[in-house]
Amino acid sequence: MLLMTNWLRFAECLCGHFLSQLMHDNLITYIVFLWVCVCAECCHHGGGPISSLCTPALVVDINKVKSNAKKMTERYKELGVQLRPHMKTHKTIECADIMTTGSRRCIVVSTLAEALFYADNGFEDILYAYSVPFDKVECCAALSERLDLFQVLLDHPDALEQLKKRPLRDGRLWHVWMKLDCGNGRAGVLHSQPESLKLAQAIDEAEGVELTGIYAHCGNTYNCRGVEQIQAVAQETTTLTLEFMEKLKAEGITCKSSIGSTPSCSHPVKDMARLSEVHPGNYVFYDVQQSVIGSCSLEDVAVRVLTRVIGHCPHRNQLLIDCGWAGLSLDGAGKLPTGYAVVDGHPNLKLLSMTQEHGRVEPISGKLDYSKYPLGTMLKLIPYHSCATAAMHPTYYVHSEDRLVGKWTPTRGW
Ligand SMILES: Cc1ncc(COP(=O)(O)O)c(C=O)c1O
Repeated sequence: MLLMTNWLRFAECLCGHFLSQLMHDNLITYIVFLWVCVCAECCHHGGGPISSLCTPALVVDINKVKSNAKKMTERYKELGVQLRPHMKTHKTIECADIMTTGSRRCIVVSTLAEALFYADNGFEDILYAYSVPFDKVECCAALSERLDLFQVLLDHPDALEQLKKRPLRDGRLWHVWMKLDCGNGRAGVLHSQPESLKLAQAIDEAEGVELTGIYAHCGNTYNCRGVEQIQAVAQETTTLTLEFMEKLKAEGITCKSSIGSTPSCSHPVKDMARLSEVHPGNYVFYDVQQSVIGSCSLEDVAVRVLTRVIGHCPHRNQLLIDCGWAGLSLDGAGKLPTGYAVVDGHPNLKLLSMTQEHGRVEPISGKLDYSKYPLGTMLKLIPYHSCATAAMHPTYYVHSEDRLVGKWTPTRGW
């Protein structure tokens, strides 16, 4: 019934009130119309070609997603380390199912909105790996009381005090990871400072609180170029984390350890087998940035933004496309030789600049042959940073080869 109502609204929009009124009045016409609409829907989202999509649209290659996820899962099974995939790149149920091989357990999230979304959809053992914000302590408490296992992260004694002020009901414990900075230079207590050990001890000793683990994120692998540099950072982070674990052990404290990022987890060093967990996320999509770092090849990238040529500007030797920063994001700042993205299959094209809904494309060298790019031509942009690009889209269109096979709806907000 809801579907019918939706299609009637669609009909009103498309054909005007007169036609929809006619359909109300004429059952046969209405049934024929419904059939056409259902076919159109199938064509659009299941079985149709990706070329039928309105642009800009984010498309996800399901085969590449599955292959990227499988490789990471098998890599850590072999190493004997628990893979706790991060959901921040896609924020969808379907992709989470692929990354957890259907277990719906053992994930990391970066926002409380993600935590609630996954909890509401039957996921368990969720780690909210973000220095616990004080305005969200009550909501974290509710999740800790509701799920079998909900875990938070902190890097400041004041945050520990906030948790202590809100004891959990039914004898439950706050499960706390302490964030350790091993050279990433973002959140976390510095591995070398005596205060870091003191904070870990304070968490361990606090009533109603359990020190679950030490979490070091090696985002500094994003400055690397090539496997050797990636592995040097992975080794350094692993060594510093394991040294910290030894210091804890000397104080009689044992807990889990976790490091990770997509570059380091794509090229692990042997010592990473001594960790309890790793927590990469971007690997399921990958992107141009990861291929430049050396985490993957460009062929592994599972996402594209489809766009169409909407203008010719021969006086500037440029094309206009219908994807601006609202469809791609400005991440990467245009510093690739091909600008803000790679135009799939067109190595001589550069996405020079974008406004909200327009992109300017020019050749890297020579004069544009406009006959090759008539208005309406579809181009596929490989994003610089898939997390940022995916965040711009309310729907992801999933395809296998050239056929659409479904739609994923991510959660949004904080
Ligand atoms: C705290 C934390 N953990 C894990 C990840 C996942 O790393 P990546 O995006 O390199 O897969 C991120 C990414 O930003 C992060 O901030």
